Amino acid sequence: MGDTNTLTKKVACPNCKTVITVHGTAGETIEITCPKCKTKGIFAFPEEKPVIISTTGPFSIEVNNLEFTYPKSNKKAVNSISFGIKKGEIFGFLGPNGAGKTTTQKVIIGLLRGYGGNVEILGKNLQNWKTDLYNRIGVGFELPNHYQKLTALENLELFASFYRVKTTPSMELLEMIELEKDANDRVATFSKGMKSKLNFARSLINDPEVLFLDEPTTGLDPVSRRLIKDIILQKRKEGKAIFLTTHNMNDADELCDRVGFIVDGKLILIESPRELKIRHGIKKVKIEYLKDGELERKEFDLKNLADNNNFLNILREQDVQTIHTAEATLDEIFIKATGRQLK
Ligand SMILES: Nc1ncnc2c1ncn2[C@@H]1O[C@H](COP(=O)(O)OP(=O)(O)OP(=O)(O)O)[C@@H](O)[C@H]1O
Ligand SMILES: [Mg+2]
Repeated sequence: MGDTNTLTKKVACPNCKTVITVHGTAGETIEITCPKCKTKGIFAFPEEKPVIISTTGPFSIEVNNLEFTYPKSNKKAVNSISFGIKKGEIFGFLGPNGAGKTTTQKVIIGLLRGYGGNVEILGKNLQNWKTDLYNRIGVGFELPNHYQKLTALENLELFASFYRVKTTPSMELLEMIELEKDANDRVATFSKGMKSKLNFARSLINDPEVLFLDEPTTGLDPVSRRLIKDIILQKRKEGKAIFLTTHNMNDADELCDRVGFIVDGKLILIESPRELKIRHGIKKVKIEYLKDGELERKEFDLKNLADNNNFLNILREQDVQTIHTAEATLDEIFIKATGRQLK
């Protein structure tokens, strides 16, 4: 352990909470077995790579060294975060619970005061915006807060009345999220997913230039999820700047032009999903074959596969059932880059 590159980290067993000391190097993934309860897990040491900002302005949102600490807390919920989002770009904020995603969004939309650093939104410092900012941005909050006694239509009409700009007809919004048949039902009778969809529609009332979406697909069934994702993609086409927070790597992969990994209030890296996969992803070939009537599975690196005798022997001698290539998922890359699981 005299190697200066060796890192040491203490992790708690997720099962019995025993503290385990792990040694390794940056980027290394270690298999751990809890000495007490024998639970197995993996720990990945973060890579040494600094934050990469691969895009230059002009930005619809530009954040520099943002910091925020909640009153009565001694820990920074957001710790020196910098990034920019352009028109027609979807920027995904990914991180585990409590990482600081919602806090960052709340600071940028002016809901949390007393932050450090600099926030520019639509070309103007956040400090210099008054309530007219809300005519130009749309916010889909993490937890829907509708007027339960009002119908879906009444809720949208009420919120539309707060704007001083042209708004999209409420019925049109309800049709867009396929809730037109429920327009005149009280929101109290809505399911969780219906409330989420209505929440999403509310963020679009004023046809905003900048859209903040905090977990817009959480709790939705696959059809509704697809619907919301298609609308988000349409908004990108229309040139909106979209700041999306999510835990869902598949959504991030599909929707985002760039993703930022946030852990413990810090932005660890920013990159496009594609580049992340190229940089971190090791292409594998997965092969399934029958041996003595049992299905066996093996994985090989795609690199130099033609010279890999183990792989070639399987091809020659075994009853091969399936072969396919697989690239690293954003989940795996997140674990590798941050040393943390998303959930
Ligand atoms: N109102 C609050 N008062 C004090 N601390 C808070 C408050 N809201 C959040 N925090 C703390 O700030 C940190 C970041 O929380 P935040 O809600 O931004 O996380 P998140 O990344 O959005 O998590 P999740 O995925 O669970 O939504 C956490 O440590 C949390 O406990
Ligand atoms: Mg949150």
